[in-house]
Amino acid sequence: MVRLEGKVAIVTGAGSIGPGWGNGKAAAVAFARQGARIVAMDLDAEAARETADLVHGEGGSCLAIQGDVADAAAVAHVVAACRDAYGRIDILHNNVGIIIPGGAAEIAPDDWNRALSVNLTGMYLTCRSVLPVMEAQGAGAIINVSSTAGIRHLGFNYISYSTTKGAILAFTRSIALECARRGVRANTILPGLMDTPMVQHALRGEYGEADLLEIARQRDERCPMGFTGNAWDVAHAAVFLASDEARYVTGAELVVDGGLTCRSA
Ligand SMILES: NC(=O)c1ccc[n+]([C@@H]2O[C@H](COP(=O)([O-])OP(=O)(O)OC[C@H]3O[C@@H](n4cnc5c(N)ncnc54)[C@H](O)[C@@H]3O)[C@@H](O)[C@H]2O)c1
Repeated sequence: MVRLEGKVAIVTGAGSIGPGWGNGKAAAVAFARQGARIVAMDLDAEAARETADLVHGEGGSCLAIQGDVADAAAVAHVVAACRDAYGRIDILHNNVGIIIPGGAAEIAPDDWNRALSVNLTGMYLTCRSVLPVMEAQGAGAIINVSSTAGIRHLGFNYISYSTTKGAILAFTRSIALECARRGVRANTILPGLMDTPMVQHALRGEYGEADLLEIARQRDERCPMGFTGNAWDVAHAAVFLASDEARYVTGAELVVDGGLTCRSA
């Protein structure tokens, strides 16, 4: 049985910033494997195309579109292109998120504003454009990707990231209640320590190539299950929330962290 047969999904940040599987790329491929047709939006045109090629290679349908989620016109273009290509929008997977390091006294105002624009306003812009379509259909599922950094201090000073990831929880709950009687569900996924190209890139920048294995070991050790998760763990959670099996699940916060946030320290 495929779980998303006949559905159409927009995935933002559907590429990956390096080789391997980012959360958006895995979600796009996982949705397609369950029968959904995909619109893969990414700031990086080549990254979006690579995801579309992967989906096509498995016999699926995927439209790659370059665009910035923080740009209202670009978001409106993606939504219009999705409707033109597929005639509907059943799933909005808001995956884009960027990390800008720095505490409150360190981060520059432009960087703070960019983090808010990309991580939070981007979700508002996609929801603003997609909700009328879903409400007219009387059906839809929105999945917003937050982070355990939104509910716990994970030991890193990136206040713009934590703040935006925390705000996504309130944002998603509001949408869930606004739309509860209109057939549209909205849920949040909170990934914990995951091994994705974005994390590899950030760790390489901070510690250098030589220490990467040791840092990976320490990250594994921090996780109660003894290993970090990967993009497929997030993607499989997203498939559930996108599917009709989750028809009574809205306003939920699905933590995918191997038990990390159960710990007091
Ligand atoms: N990797 C982790 O450990 C982890 C943990 C918790 C939450 N998350 C969240 O998962 C999501 C994806 O993370 P990832 O690690 O897979 O990242 P990634 O960097 O591998 O992929 C993100 C993609 O988003 C694209 N992108 C960046 N800015 C964009 C913009 N303004 N508009 C459109 N596309 C843009 C990038 O080009 C990239 O292809 C983020 O929201 C992140 O906060 C990741």
